[in-house]
Amino acid sequence: MNNALEVSNLRKEFRDFTLNNVSFSLPMGYIMGFVGQNGAGKTTAISLILNMTGRDGGEVKIFGLDNIRDEKKIKQDIAVVFDDIYFVDSWRVREVEKALKNFYNGWSSELYSRYIKNFNLPVNKRVKELSRGMKMKLMLAVAMSHGAKLLILDEPTSGLDPVARDELLEILGAYIEDGKKSILFSTHITSDLERIADYITVIDHGNIFYTGTKDDLLEGYSIVKGGPNDLSGPLQKKLIGLSKTSTGFSGLIRSSEKGLVSSEMITEQPSIDEILVFISKGGVRYE
Ligand SMILES: Nc1ncnc2c1ncn2[C@@H]1O[C@H](COP(=O)(O)OP(=O)(O)OP(=O)(O)O)[C@@H](O)[C@H]1O
Ligand SMILES: [Mg+2]
Repeated sequence: MNNALEVSNLRKEFRDFTLNNVSFSLPMGYIMGFVGQNGAGKTTAISLILNMTGRDGGEVKIFGLDNIRDEKKIKQDIAVVFDDIYFVDSWRVREVEKALKNFYNGWSSELYSRYIKNFNLPVNKRVKELSRGMKMKLMLAVAMSHGAKLLILDEPTSGLDPVARDELLEILGAYIEDGKKSILFSTHITSDLERIADYITVIDHGNIFYTGTKDDLLEGYSIVKGGPNDLSGPLQKKLIGLSKTSTGFSGLIRSSEKGLVSSEMITEQPSIDEILVFISKGGVRYE
């Protein structure tokens, strides 16, 4: 399978935080959600992928090319949206295209106009006069107007209203339809990923907790609930995010360990949000 993005043992050490040998691959033609709690390392990993931050170890390949050695070649085929706008404040929406289109070989004025219209962006307003959601939409319109083969979006739906989010998800779904484009998408709105992501990477305190298909994530873990006397030693050892109260316990378990669950206990399939909450409560060991 062809990978649009391959991250291998990526490492970055800050004073109080280590991105710890992060590895994941995004196959061409798919959408990967990148999730984890605030400060887990998503933006750091994205900055390293884009060579905006120097790494301390590891390797990143984009379309099979090295992200540092072949940076110039790769940049034409990538589009990036961060949650901060990077356009000049005094530009009017209609001037943004003029200012940016010459940087990209594949710029399509037709596509850009279509996105601006679909997103109801006011063409005469200046960037600084746009609301947060309008700024996100403008960045997305630019990102999608030059035929980029890899979109890297860091919280693109934050600040968008539900209608705009819904539109955006549809547009992103359509964007990858030709099978040649891929999207890495960090977000805290996991319901968006439940809807459109094929793959999920979960990062926890700089460590990869899970990377793989969304279905394998959701089927690979179960929530276990039981009474106060049901919790055996072996089960307790395997539970992620165990919480105990006087009425019982709950925790997350790998489906492969379900043999430890007895018939009095209840098991449920978790949502992505529930998985993240259990992970945040601790009990996961990384090498
Ligand atoms: N330039 C830097 N110098 C020192 N520490 C940094 C720097 N950039 C990020 N960090 C630290 O790295 C950790 C991860 O931050 P990062 O921005 O990657 O998290 P995130 O997963 O994107 O979180 P959020 O969901 O809040 O956006 C944090 O502890 C942060 O303080
Ligand atoms: Mg971030």
